[in-house]
Amino acid sequence: DRLPSVLHRMPKAELHIHIEGSLEPELIFKLAQRNGVRLPYPDVQALRAAYAFTDLQSFLDIYYAGASVLLKEEDFFDMAWAYLEKAAADNVVHAEIFFDPQTHTARGVSMGTVIRGLHHACQRAHQEWGISARLILCFLRHLSEAEAFETLEAALPYREHFIGVGLDSSEVGHPPEKFARVFARCRELGLHVVAHAGEEGPPAYIWQALDVLRVQRIDHGVQATCDPALMQRLAQTRVPLTVCPLSNVKLCVFPDLRRHNLRQLLDAGLCVTINSDDPAYFGGYLNDNFVQLFAALDLGPREAYQLALNSFEASFVDEATRRGWQ
Ligand code: HPA
Ligand code: ZN
Repeated sequence: DRLPSVLHRMPKAELHIHIEGSLEPELIFKLAQRNGVRLPYPDVQALRAAYAFTDLQSFLDIYYAGASVLLKEEDFFDMAWAYLEKAAADNVVHAEIFFDPQTHTARGVSMGTVIRGLHHACQRAHQEWGISARLILCFLRHLSEAEAFETLEAALPYREHFIGVGLDSSEVGHPPEKFARVFARCRELGLHVVAHAGEEGPPAYIWQALDVLRVQRIDHGVQATCDPALMQRLAQTRVPLTVCPLSNVKLCVFPDLRRHNLRQLLDAGLCVTINSDDPAYFGGYLNDNFVQLFAALDLGPREAYQLALNSFEASFVDEATRRGWQ
């Protein structure tokens, strides 16, 4: 069968990847040793064995624990470098990468340390492999809007190193409207705006992300299929959904890949894209998501082409650059 090879070789963009979620257990232990950080797990196997999630929160608890080994600029560099090497091997030509600064500034790591380390990895990866990579700063929605404003303030000296802002972490109970003012400020500053919505949360959160935060993309958004009026809105405006199939199964949003609603989203004319979310935790990088989803849903070359095209349409790269890739 040639399809996996086509999926592998086709140029694509990845638009929903949390860089802290690309931290492999081996690198977690290496950085723990380098920095003298004690982990609540004796070894790599014990840590991996804890990767049995029942919902988003059960994952987030372990994901934030894993990130505790990141202290120095070179740690952030090494993490992003490892992801970009894998992405380039998957024929990802462009990546828009989320990072969670509050996870680090809360531990006394400076904003500059985080952004400089990640930025240098993006710069060097472009030189080495020709991959273009941009950063998107995410606010943690379980924290307050005031804390999001403080985070934005701390990041503004590095304004040229990130292209936009997002909203992630625990969804249910933290609706998009909680961040209305900080997102309005970000839009004034000319930042791109995206938000996680409709992963576990209701379609109402997707409506709010669109109408209150005025986002340019919805991250996940798979709950949209419960709301016909919302499906129509998303199809008409082509506001993209960055869907993460392996993530959805690992966090029990769908019982298995064969029950995933991606085909329904595509058939309704939405601009959906395939992404890895937190590849070190969910069992695969971008091409693993493509190959496993295509097998489970019996998708073919037409859908492959559409999804690759969508990934560029949904990206924040300029028109001229995009034409070069397509
Ligand atoms: N949802 C919300 N927050 C996250 C995720 C996710 O899938 N991954 C990392 N932070
Ligand atoms: Zn995510």
